[in-house]
Amino acid sequence: MHSLRARLVAALLALFALVGVVVGVVTAIELHAFLLHRLDVQLASSRDRFAGALAGPLAGSRPASNDRRGGFLGTPGQSVDTLGARIVDGRVTQGGVLDRSGTPEQLSSSEAAALVALPVDGRPRSLRVGSEDYRVVAVRAGDGDVLVTGLPLAGLDETVTRLITVEVIVIGFALVFTGIVGAAIVRLTLRPLTRVAWTAGRVAELPLDRGEVALAERVPEADTDPRTEVGQVGLALNRLLGHVGAALEARQASETRLRRFVADASHELRTPLAAIRGYAELTRRSAEPVPPEIARMLARVESQTERMTTLVEDLMLLARLDAGRPLGREPVDLSRLVIDAMSDAHAVSPDHHWQLIAPDEEVTVTGDAAGLAQVVANLLANTRTHTPAGTTVAVTLTPVDGQVNLSVVDDGPGVPPDLLPHVFERFARGDSSRSRANGSTGLGLSIVDAVVAAHRGSVDVTSVPGRTAFTVRLPIRS
Ligand SMILES: Nc1ncnc2c1ncn2[C@@H]1O[C@H](COP(=O)(O)OP(=O)(O)OP(=O)(O)O)[C@@H](O)[C@H]1O
Ligand SMILES: [Mg+2]
Repeated sequence: MHSLRARLVAALLALFALVGVVVGVVTAIELHAFLLHRLDVQLASSRDRFAGALAGPLAGSRPASNDRRGGFLGTPGQSVDTLGARIVDGRVTQGGVLDRSGTPEQLSSSEAAALVALPVDGRPRSLRVGSEDYRVVAVRAGDGDVLVTGLPLAGLDETVTRLITVEVIVIGFALVFTGIVGAAIVRLTLRPLTRVAWTAGRVAELPLDRGEVALAERVPEADTDPRTEVGQVGLALNRLLGHVGAALEARQASETRLRRFVADASHELRTPLAAIRGYAELTRRSAEPVPPEIARMLARVESQTERMTTLVEDLMLLARLDAGRPLGREPVDLSRLVIDAMSDAHAVSPDHHWQLIAPDEEVTVTGDAAGLAQVVANLLANTRTHTPAGTTVAVTLTPVDGQVNLSVVDDGPGVPPDLLPHVFERFARGDSSRSRANGSTGLGLSIVDAVVAAHRGSVDVTSVPGRTAFTVRLPIRS
């Protein structure tokens, strides 16, 4: 598909060429007809002169060899190259073409034959005589003989050919000129449209899907005149941008409200939760004898409260990350952090096989130590809680050009395939009995995702039964 500009210029050129051809053809035809008519008039008077000569004293005279003027052919007033012939009984008795001095040049036998074959109807027609084209007319003279008069067509043909040549050259130049000037005009005319397209393009590049969006781009005032077509587009685009901007602001406001609500609610929940946990623990440990059944229930209260505390803390962390609150920016030794997390995991779950592959030197990134520790802890917790005992978990730390790759690979059953595309979403969790028993909430990986994104890193997952790999990429500290 060609651009609108190219199509407009092409259409302009095609139209111009068509008009040029029509004008050229009509002019050439008209000129030809006009010149032919004039030649026919001349032919008629030429014929009349010959006829007058034949009817006069020269009539019936035989061409004498000493008659330099050649009988009736010597009629005064005939122009150069006039053809004249007198046919008696199907034979040319006198005939010739007048040269510059008015002397007739004799006709060859084939030329004479062409004249003899001519119908005697007094109508002018074009005929090739020898190597020349003539306009000829044959009439019956007063004495019954046939008189043929002819005038050459060469001049007429030359004029028409010349006209066509000039027309072709002029139209050719005019086409080139129209092409250049037309392209410039079309470009100039379409410039406002290009400006409107630029505005649309700049808006399309804005990240409208998240965060605070200032939709300040507008089509310039000059291109919003509703009397022009482009102005109507510009105006419509500006109104659309206005609506979109308002909608985005409303969305942003409601998101901020919701986030603040979650953060406040989580914050408010922490104190009563701590109190519940403390009282449960105190009661369980009180000096008074507590029936074993009650002690068991209190232990459940404690563990559920603990779980709720973790959940509340996760929610608070997510709300903080969503709000784009700045994280800590200190140097964090990732190798140290991973080793610590591994030994914790080993202590909690000795029936998994834990392997660590890390370089000897320190791998340091800039960021929030607590956040990064939580990333590693969440990934390791998943390999612990979502795989059966005996599973091997390999953690690899590899610095590669400017970034560090942290991969956590296990040979467990894998993430359920229908969950895999959503695994980093909030509250997305598999509902295997094992997960449920572990009280999983589905926030672990969304925290990993949010923390890593806040560090300008990325995380991805590949999972098939027997090999599940979570890979975190973080920019290395320079
Ligand atoms: N290594 C893994 N092997 C198998 N499944 C996994 C693995 N890691 C995660 N999953 C699946 O992904 C789901 C989401 O994990 P995520 O860590 O976000 O939540 P969770 O572990 O269920 O709960 P939480 O971490 O908040 O306690 C899990 O419920 C589990 O089904
Ligand atoms: Mg988890």
